Amino acid sequence: MSQDIQQEHGRYIQPLEGWRRSHNCGQLTMMDNGASVCLMGWVQYRRDHGGLIFVDLRDRYGLTQVVFSPEIAPEAHGDAHILRNEYVLAVQGAVRPRPEGMTNPHMVTGEVEVVVHAWKLLNTSKTPPFPIEDRSEAGENLRLQWRYLDLRRPRMVQNLELRHRAAQAVRRYMDELGFLEIETPFLTKSTPEGARDFLVPSRLNPGEFYALPQSPQLFKQLFMVSGLDRYYQIVRCFRDEDLRADRQPEFTQIDIEMSFVDEDQIMQMAEGLVARVWKETLDIDIPQPFPRMRYDEAMGRYGVDKPDTRFGMELVEITQAVRNSGFKLFAKAAVVKAMKVVGGESLSRKDIDEYTEFVKIYGAQGLAWVKIRVDEWQSPIAKFLSEAEREAIAKSLDLQAGDLVFFQAGEAGTVNAALGNLRVHLAENLGLIPEGSFNFLWVTDFPLFEYDEDERRYVACHHPFTAPQPGHLELVKTRPQDALARAYDMVLNGSEVGGGSIRSHSAFVQRTMFNALGLSEEEAQRRFGFFLQALEQGAPPHGGIAFGFDRMNMLLAGAQSIRDVIAFPKTQKATCLMTQAPDSVSVEQLRELGLRLREKAEKA
Ligand code: AMO
Repeated sequence: MSQDIQQEHGRYIQPLEGWRRSHNCGQLTMMDNGASVCLMGWVQYRRDHGGLIFVDLRDRYGLTQVVFSPEIAPEAHGDAHILRNEYVLAVQGAVRPRPEGMTNPHMVTGEVEVVVHAWKLLNTSKTPPFPIEDRSEAGENLRLQWRYLDLRRPRMVQNLELRHRAAQAVRRYMDELGFLEIETPFLTKSTPEGARDFLVPSRLNPGEFYALPQSPQLFKQLFMVSGLDRYYQIVRCFRDEDLRADRQPEFTQIDIEMSFVDEDQIMQMAEGLVARVWKETLDIDIPQPFPRMRYDEAMGRYGVDKPDTRFGMELVEITQAVRNSGFKLFAKAAVVKAMKVVGGESLSRKDIDEYTEFVKIYGAQGLAWVKIRVDEWQSPIAKFLSEAEREAIAKSLDLQAGDLVFFQAGEAGTVNAALGNLRVHLAENLGLIPEGSFNFLWVTDFPLFEYDEDERRYVACHHPFTAPQPGHLELVKTRPQDALARAYDMVLNGSEVGGGSIRSHSAFVQRTMFNALGLSEEEAQRRFGFFLQALEQGAPPHGGIAFGFDRMNMLLAGAQSIRDVIAFPKTQKATCLMTQAPDSVSVEQLRELGLRLREKAEKA
């Protein structure tokens, strides 16, 4: 619509002047037949029909059909022709049944309409850049640019309502168990969780920076030292890391810490929490206790530490069976694993090529495969495999004619990553994942450390405050790669929804951990001195967990991305398309902060 029409219509705009909404647009039914009502909302759609003008009026609760009739209210009808999509209206009128054949059984309000006696135009609107409806096929960038309009769409409203109900369920549950909700600072010191920090320069302390918390980890542990033995918070966390569909640079955690507890007590509390959320939002009963799986078993059977257990297609190690194979790639590899695709014989060469490309993302060189025919093994590698090898492979995978087997050979890390991720990708493509099931699982007994090739040192698998398992402290010093952590992750349908651990509450153990992570005494003191000091002031045994609240909501809502359950999310490049953040700042602002940009950054 042209600017002119909108401006011209502007002269019809009136103040509310005492008009009050009596109902919302998702409420009226035949029970209200005959009632005088006042509705307010947005024009979803206007139809002119043989003298009558119909408007679907929308608010966040639903749609109600309102009718402007020249017979019943000529004055009200006279001006109604100006109405356009997304104009904001107040209507007063009477509820009546819709005429025969015009009812809509799919809508709560589908049996009634409101015949308008009087109305006010509360505001005009330019034509929205995309239709405000669920069917809208607007691209995500356009939706993010106009997010406040996107949030008018029923699907988005539902997602935000669901999120609200989940948060309320969490608060009720935690309150019933005696947890205190306590806030922790955002302008703080680095809390390492494996990502980069977002830094905030300090004007009052030139040259110094706050770090936004990657999590409230240290503060919640300090609460335990304070004796505030049951803490929780629904809290924003900030991590400057590469983004994916299930990651945001600022995201929300349900952060929890408890004193005088062991793993089982924390896990039981956490299971109760998610069961409560699922019950109160989706009315689904989640059976407890959740199954548990050790990390090494998860890696062995699924290749990943967050297995999706809704379908089979497990990985099978065949290293020994091909140890002396004529196929040198297999014989020499540290690990060889196979994965059977039942009925996969029907995959085309093109499909297989696509999967070969897919595994390269995870560092694989290629992807070996065999199609099991009734009378032969069809494969470029078949000729290298002896009869005995074939028999051993067929036995360990229980192969039948019609199956296809994918193989990976190499270092355990690459083999697992390639086949583990291929497994999920294939299951999605082949429709093997049952809809509507929620498979919760604990993964336990994680290694304490992993070796970071880039940094050439050990880094904490969970975070540096996680306690070693009983008897593993010595390993921390001698064979860190073998030390296990008192850590646990909650996994749902292949997604890590929460993670936590029992902490090192002894300053000595914590110092040993810092040392194993390559932090000198001085560095540990400079970065975490306040914390080490606190551990020496009567720190009780304690532990906790944090849930990714956005991820949890994504799974509750059945959304494809966490961006769909966050009101104002960032793009994959960590930008906000609506506000255009991040943005450059003036030289004056920089000067006040004692900062100057390098020439290159200024030009960029
Ligand atoms: P962790 O780093 O495992 O643990 O984080 C807990 C949960 O937060 C979610 N999560 C994210 N969600 C969206 N975007 C991100 N960038 C992102 N990063 C993590 C995940 C994850 O399981 N302080 C510890 C908890 C503890 O030990 O108590 C912590 O933050 O769902």
